[in-house]
Parts: sequence; structure tokens; C-alpha cells
Amino acid sequence: MLCTLNSLGLHGITGYLVTAECDLSSGLPNFDIVGLPDTAVKEARERVRSAIRNCGFTFPVSRITVNLAPADRRKGGTLYDLPMLVGILCAGRQMPAPAAGSAFVGELSLSGELRPVTGMLPMALAARSAGLTALYVPADSAPEATLAGGLTVYPVENVAQLAAHLRGEVPIAPAEPWVPVPGNGTVPDFADVKGQEPVKRALEIAAAGGHNIAMIGPPGSGKSMLARRLPSILPDLTEREALECTQIHSVLGLTTKEEPLLTRRPFRAPHHTISVMGLSGGGSPPRPGEISLAHNGVLFLDELPEFQKETLEVLRQPMEEGRVQISRVSGTEVFPSRFMLVAAMNPCKCGWYGHPSGRCRCSEHEVKRYLGRLSGPLLDRIDLYVEVPPLAFDELSARPAGESSAEIKKRVDAARAVQTARFGPDGPDCNAHMGPKELHACCELDEGCRAVMQGAFDRMGLTARSYDRILRVARTIADLEGSEHIQVPHLAEALQYRESSYLRR
Ligand SMILES: Nc1ncnc2c1ncn2[C@@H]1O[C@H](COP(=O)(O)OP(=O)(O)O)[C@@H](O)[C@H]1O
Ligand SMILES: [Mg+2]
Ligand SMILES: [Zn+2]
Repeated sequence: MLCTLNSLGLHGITGYLVTAECDLSSGLPNFDIVGLPDTAVKEARERVRSAIRNCGFTFPVSRITVNLAPADRRKGGTLYDLPMLVGILCAGRQMPAPAAGSAFVGELSLSGELRPVTGMLPMALAARSAGLTALYVPADSAPEATLAGGLTVYPVENVAQLAAHLRGEVPIAPAEPWVPVPGNGTVPDFADVKGQEPVKRALEIAAAGGHNIAMIGPPGSGKSMLARRLPSILPDLTEREALECTQIHSVLGLTTKEEPLLTRRPFRAPHHTISVMGLSGGGSPPRPGEISLAHNGVLFLDELPEFQKETLEVLRQPMEEGRVQISRVSGTEVFPSRFMLVAAMNPCKCGWYGHPSGRCRCSEHEVKRYLGRLSGPLLDRIDLYVEVPPLAFDELSARPAGESSAEIKKRVDAARAVQTARFGPDGPDCNAHMGPKELHACCELDEGCRAVMQGAFDRMGLTARSYDRILRVARTIADLEGSEHIQVPHLAEALQYRESSYLRR
């Protein structure tokens, strides 16, 4: 007696179709799982056995073989509990076979309750593209499964409920497609930040063009506070971007049934003690790291010089390509990682260099060494450097609240609309991602600009990469102003953000 069911699997951040074949035959009672199962899948035997018994069914006294195909792909996790249970009960004629085109995933408790699975969205998308029509999933995973669209999603609470449904006694109502609750949750607002207008201006430019930015200033000057407010002025996620982000977060179990879809750009702030693997991703099976969790959003590296050099090195390729390659014996895994880098740093080890109080006790040499720890190629990939001075007392005590994030976001959105119109649907999504073609077509410099650029080139010893980066920022400043061409003031402002006095020393 053989029963074949559809299930799903996860490889990296992509789902794929799995066929679970359950065979009951005569012979010594035994329960075997084949098809490269990991330990969690092997342990399913105990959960399935108990759940079957505790839900009023009989565990067959037969030789049970479950094959998870394709047999050459490693199967991990607890999601095959449910398809195995259904397969065994159907093969033993204790439960009617489900309609063709249905797939099952879910972890079981010993009493037959279903527990949510990770990676629901990528698996649901795989089910959809494989032409399946119905998905039986743990009730808590159902909201996320509906995000794939085009599938009937049955939220299953427990085995008894599923049995009643398959027998046609009490049908399970399909899950309604999940829709975000508008205005749910709040993000910190720029209105809380007093003064610091030049920093806010730089952050507005960074947001408008998707540029990387670094803030340098003494402790307590508000660097972290300002960085955390950046997502509030970034453009809304498009539907495609939201699904991309959600898949990555889902695989790591970071989505919830209340909020299965990411509706805000991610803001990731890993601590400086993070490992290379934690940042870039890796492991076996390979899992995405912080740079992929920050995809379509912000990667905030607070106290940048405190990070291990090797850790920061892994940022280079993803910052150029918007994706990270993880090479393993078994092959190469590619995860998306197009993020905006926001870095914060103190000017020196003690933090107070340049502070009017004169509290810094570092020698010139020590100050140099502190920022010198950062590699040139990394510094080169940061488009805007902005100093965050300590606020004077009268500023802190007297200033009224600053401009709200909503007002700043309006200007950012307008500048992005200009970029979208210019690049079209197949072009880059913002100025920071302009390639050589767009740079050539959209960043032409007139005589005056060329002279300014020439002067800066000689003075600052710029590299070809920084030349392009300056052009991109100048383009964004022109877009914020609604100017078709880059003009001298736009270029001059862009250049000024490369000229931090701390870096020149
Ligand atoms: N411009 C500002 N307006 C209002 N509060 C500020 C400002 N700058 C700093 N603060 C206050 O000081 C605290 C410390 O700032 P923080 O962002 O942690 O500084 P940094 O990261 O530069 O060390 C903030 O949480 C905030 O309460
Ligand atoms: Mg801080
Ligand atoms: Zn110091």
C-alpha cells in the first residue's frame, strides 16, 4: 500500500517541491526514512508515532518506508512530520487521500497539534510555481503562506481537525489573504532630533539616492539616534521588495503570524563582535547573514573601527554587487544583499578628539591609527562622510522639535520618482546603483563642473571609484532640487561630503 503526497523543502532561501512516498508493507514492523534526512527529520518518527496514537488512530504494525524525493537533496527540519503522518494514515486506509495538487508541511507535537515552520513563504512560492493548488500548513504559518497568492491555504490546528476535513465532515475554512494593518507600529521620528541640520541633510541625500554614509563624532552626539531614524524617511518597500525581504527573514524564523510580511525596510544593527559568518552568511546548510537580512534596507555598523578587519572585508563584494556568494564544497550559494551602509564612529579611541572640552588624551599617532584601521577600499565605498558635533547647551535646551520624518520623506520620495522615471523599469532602482551606462547618460558635467572636479581630483587624490561615487551623489542632490543637469553647487556639495577633516589626516 503506497501513498504519494506533495510536500516542500528549503534550499538556502529558495523553496522546492518534495514528494513524500509512504509505503506500508508486510515484514518486521519498522519505520525508515530515506532521501537524505537530517537528524530532525529522523526524529520525526517519534513525533509521528505518538501523534498517530494520541489522535485515536492505530500506528500500523507494518514495515513503513518513507522516501523523500528528490533523494539527492538534503532534507532538514521538522516540516515533514505532517506529510509523513498523512501518508501513513492514507496508505493504511485510515484517512481518505487528499485531492491531487495538495501539499503538506508542518511540525507535530506528540499530541497531534501543529507547530509553525520556518521558510513558509519561499516554500509557498515554490508550490505555486509548481502548479499546486492547495496547501495544508500549521495555522500559525497560514498568514505567511497566503502571501504567495494563487493557492488555497488550509490552516491546520491539529490532526483531528485535518482528519475531519479530509473525510468531508467538517471542512476547514481556507485562510483569508493576509493584508497589512495600516499604521501598525511606530518608528522613531526625526522630529525628536534637535539641531544637527547638516547631518539630517546628508541623511536625506543618502536616503534619496540610496548612498552609503558614515557619521563621525564624539560619544553622545546623537549618531545612533540619527541612524535609527533613517528608515522613517526611506521610500516604502515595493511589493516585490517586500516579498524578497520576507523570504530571507522567514528562513531564519524572523517572521510572525501577526506580521508575516515585512512592510518596512529592514534596519539591521549587528554588534561589532559579530563573526564573519554572522555578517555574510554561511554554515551548513548555508543560511543568510546580517547583510542579507539588511537587503533592501539599512545595515548600521555602529562603532565601525571596533569591528574585526576580516569581518569588514566581507562587505566589499556585496557592496559592489548587491549579493553575496557563499562558496561551499557542495556548491555556491548566492543570497541577495543590496543594503545601504550606515556607519558611525568616534574620531578616536577615547572618542573625544576635537571636542571643545579638550577631554581627548589620545596622541596624534593614536588618533591616526584609530581610523587607519579601516581599509581604504571600504572607506572608498562610503559616499558621504558627515561630522556630528556635540550639541551646544542652548541648542539642546532651547531648540524646538525638528522637521518631521514625514516631511523629509516627501522630498525623498519625489527625488526617487525622478530616478524611477529616468531609469525606467529595467534600469537601476536608485542613483547609488547606476552603472557605467547610466553614469555616462545622466551625469554629464558642463565646463564649470569639470573644472571643479579637476581641482578636487588633484587636491584630494581621488580614485576612479570615488570619482563615480561623487557623480552619483551629485546626481541625487540635483534630483532633490529638481534640476535636470548637475550644476556646480550640486557637485560642490557632493565633494564636501568626501572631505572629512578626520579622514584627510
Ligand atoms: N540632537 C539631539 N536631539 C535630541 N536628543 C539628543 C540629540 N543628540 C543626542 N541626544 C540624546 O543623547 C542620547 C545619546 O545619543 P546617541 O545617539 O546614543 O549618541 P552616539 O551614538 O553619538 O554616542 C540620545 O539617546 C538622545 O537622548
Ligand atoms: Mg552610539
Ligand atoms: Zn581621544
